[in-house]
Amino acid sequence: MKSNSLIQNQNIIFSFIRRYLKKYPYFCIIVLHEYFRNLFPDDPHINFKIKDPKTRIVDLQITLINTLQNFENFGFYNINFKNLNAQEELKKKTGKVYGKFWKRFSNKENINAKKFILERFRNFKSFNNNFFKNKKIIDVGCGGGRYSNALRLLKAKQVIGVDFSDDGIFTAKKNYNFKNISFKKQNVLKLKFKKNSFDVVFCNGVLHHTSDFKRGIKELHRICKPGGHIYLYLYGTGGLYWSARKQMNKFMKLIPQEYSQKVLDLIGMPNNRFIFMDNWYVPYERHCSHKEVNKILKSLGVEFIEKMKKGRKTDLETGLFNYKNSKIIWGEGEIRLLIKKSV
Ligand SMILES: C[S@@+](CC[C@H](N)C(=O)[O-])C[C@H]1O[C@@H](n2cnc3c(N)ncnc32)[C@H](O)[C@@H]1O
Repeated sequence: MKSNSLIQNQNIIFSFIRRYLKKYPYFCIIVLHEYFRNLFPDDPHINFKIKDPKTRIVDLQITLINTLQNFENFGFYNINFKNLNAQEELKKKTGKVYGKFWKRFSNKENINAKKFILERFRNFKSFNNNFFKNKKIIDVGCGGGRYSNALRLLKAKQVIGVDFSDDGIFTAKKNYNFKNISFKKQNVLKLKFKKNSFDVVFCNGVLHHTSDFKRGIKELHRICKPGGHIYLYLYGTGGLYWSARKQMNKFMKLIPQEYSQKVLDLIGMPNNRFIFMDNWYVPYERHCSHKEVNKILKSLGVEFIEKMKKGRKTDLETGLFNYKNSKIIWGEGEIRLLIKKSV
């Protein structure tokens, strides 16, 4: 199998989707759900029958192309979706999209956050069981507060979660009412904290949704104490996975979020699997390269940067680690860094 057929097949699938999205939105949502879940190294909810990622993806691409070719044989209703392009500030719009997810998370899903942190951090050489113990920690872009709470459970002395989303802050305050945890509405690009305020600055999946991720990194660095740590998760770039995300993010906005959510609910998708709606409806996502992130960190005088090479089963880094020559699928993977602010 030639590797470029992977890319060609993906282009064929997306050209069909673009053509059929408004006529057959429900089919397109199911096709994209099936396709996107197969672009991950592993699926915690539905087992992959074929383990080898390239074989699995090409196999599925062919099945989907055959299915899409037959869509024309179905009748359809003309659905007039309302104008979806409300003009709002990026951070407000982003907050609203995510706000809808946090309310759907159950307690169990929130408790999993601690496990997720440990499954990832144990791969950093500088991590140990007391890493968060007695530390003053900020969770930047905390959403519904699942990681803020996980950091509390990991024995932080104090955790402050900040986010611009009213819904996120409301859910976080409601779910995590503990004396050493607090939540504040703030813009992550202009944090209202003095320099050198925190032992650990935790920022998971936030800055790539802002208008200026470089400024965001500078803010994280500013509020971190010298000798303290910054955990930074950003989307990576390159490969089939990231190019699929780029395209899906563009054209799924033609279908309202509520409609897609209902279709996904109908097929039984669990609430915590918000990655689909996340990518499809987030107003903006930037894909970053390791080179550009390293350059910003170096310009801030950072000397110590540890890259996570392997993490949870679903992480792209784990895919790249387990399967040779898989850059064609996952490009540079995701960016998960443990950064130490120089003293
Ligand atoms: C993908 S969610 C991640 C939430 C959380 N870190 C987690 O992993 O569960 C991104 C979050 O960033 C927030 N956000 C985006 N831009 C922001 C900004 N400029 N200021 C504050 N929060 C922002 C959104 O409201 C959303 O809650």
